[in-house]
Amino acid sequence: METVESTSCSLIYCTTALAIFIGLFYAYAKYKLSYWSRRGVKTPPTHLIFGNFKDSLLFKKSPAEMMREIYDSADPDDPYIGFYIFHKPMLLLRDHDLIKQMMARHFDIFPNRRFGSSTGTDIMGLRNLLAIRSQPIWKYLRAKLTPALTGQRLKAMMPLIMQCTEPLLTYVDGLPTDKNGWMEPQDMLEISSRYINNVLASVIYGIDVNSFDVNDSGFFEAALKMFRGFKRAMVTIIYFFIPTLIPLIKPFSTWPINYFRKCFKASMKYREQTGNKRGDFVDFLIMLKNGEQNPLFKFERENLLAQAAAFHIAGFESTGTSTAWAIYELAHHPEYQNTLYEEIKKYLSGKEITMELINEMPFLDCVVNEALRLHPPIPVVDRIAEKDFEVPETGLVIEKGVSIYVSVNAMYQDSRYFNDSCNFVPLRETENKKFYESLTFGIGPRSCIGQRLASLLAKITLINFVLNYEISLSHKNEESKNETSKISVHVFKYAVDGLNVRFKKRE
Ligand code: HEM
Repeated sequence: METVESTSCSLIYCTTALAIFIGLFYAYAKYKLSYWSRRGVKTPPTHLIFGNFKDSLLFKKSPAEMMREIYDSADPDDPYIGFYIFHKPMLLLRDHDLIKQMMARHFDIFPNRRFGSSTGTDIMGLRNLLAIRSQPIWKYLRAKLTPALTGQRLKAMMPLIMQCTEPLLTYVDGLPTDKNGWMEPQDMLEISSRYINNVLASVIYGIDVNSFDVNDSGFFEAALKMFRGFKRAMVTIIYFFIPTLIPLIKPFSTWPINYFRKCFKASMKYREQTGNKRGDFVDFLIMLKNGEQNPLFKFERENLLAQAAAFHIAGFESTGTSTAWAIYELAHHPEYQNTLYEEIKKYLSGKEITMELINEMPFLDCVVNEALRLHPPIPVVDRIAEKDFEVPETGLVIEKGVSIYVSVNAMYQDSRYFNDSCNFVPLRETENKKFYESLTFGIGPRSCIGQRLASLLAKITLINFVLNYEISLSHKNEESKNETSKISVHVFKYAVDGLNVRFKKRE
């Protein structure tokens, strides 16, 4: 009898405790999720636990899609809209003047990214340009590294880049063909990633690899381990959107740093011992290492590796995916493919491909920019306020510690800025052309340092493909032209079924 009574008592206690806990949690969540309404900022309907990021946190939608939905839920002329990731308030900017103001003019208030911000114990978190958060160190490092990718330096790298096109063309030429000369369908991302990886291994790590050769694909396999697969998708989403969880996922977020360390060390050692120069990033780092050092940041040992690794991480998947999408769009649009073919033939007319010639091709430039607009590889740019900032005209105070976001893909699809925004139109006219052409590479002093290299690599890949092959969609893609709407849940834009194209050697 007593046991029954004590059991029912415990049950009552537990139920009461649970009810109190739920009540307190509800009150806490409601209060936290009223951060924006208390400041007169609209938000989309918010989930009590996940905030406005539920479908991405549950791996149902890509963050890019999620951000676009938040963006679209504002009134057309709203300069911003509030949203929450769990209970953390963020502000999504929707107006290009405001974006320029906050990220460029007021860089002193918004100098750092939220991305990867709670790493702090490994070299990637502490010492590379991508994630560094100390202003004086970032400023020093950026000033020192910017000259590594100037036009002159890229020109010196051209022979290395062109050398990497040989295994690319050998691979494609060797594909089996049907009776009409069309080659077996290929996932363009696979091909462009291998090519970009060969180039980055050469120009950044100073080593020659052939990712098209199964016996020489160690560097490529290691690069893939940084991004591809469900586990990496999860890790990347956390790095971009919930960096406070980074310490918790440390055991799952390891990446093959030891492999890259080995490659880098061997390359540096060989070059220092032999004095050989290739015109690559290793030459540049050796020069920095041998130059005058600043106590703020010394170009030595792991600090050198961190810069090479950051360039590789930042450049590999972004350049590979955007180039693949550009080729895919050309397969989709034979009319643009022909225009581009004629342009390339006219400018090259038997001459060697040089940077000057590439920079003279106007339609090529339009194709690359339009592909980046329609398929921006990195969907968001973010910053954290280091001080309170009052938004002019609205009076809204963005408090220190609050993050601001730009949804690059949402802006690129905003019909206020782009007509026919969901279609590939290389010759499109738009206001604020310069701003939008560089938006995909970020905004202000912290924007992408590798923009020129990325654009050069995309152009060289396009020239090689368009000049040598006719490109068409594979039957798989032709049957369902909507295929590209099936996008993986990942920060990068991967098509679930691949970007399948076919090539036919030109006469
Ligand atoms: C299509 C290819 C690429 C795209 C779309 C891209 C895009 C971006 C974006 C959006 C950012 C953040 C900018 C911001 O916060 O305002 C960034 C930063 C950065 N990117 Fe790229 N990137 C590309 C290729 C490259 C390449 C090839 C390299 C180097 C070889 C590179 C190196 C970096 C570095 C080091 C940063 C950090 C800069 C800093 O914080 O000072 N990126 N990139």
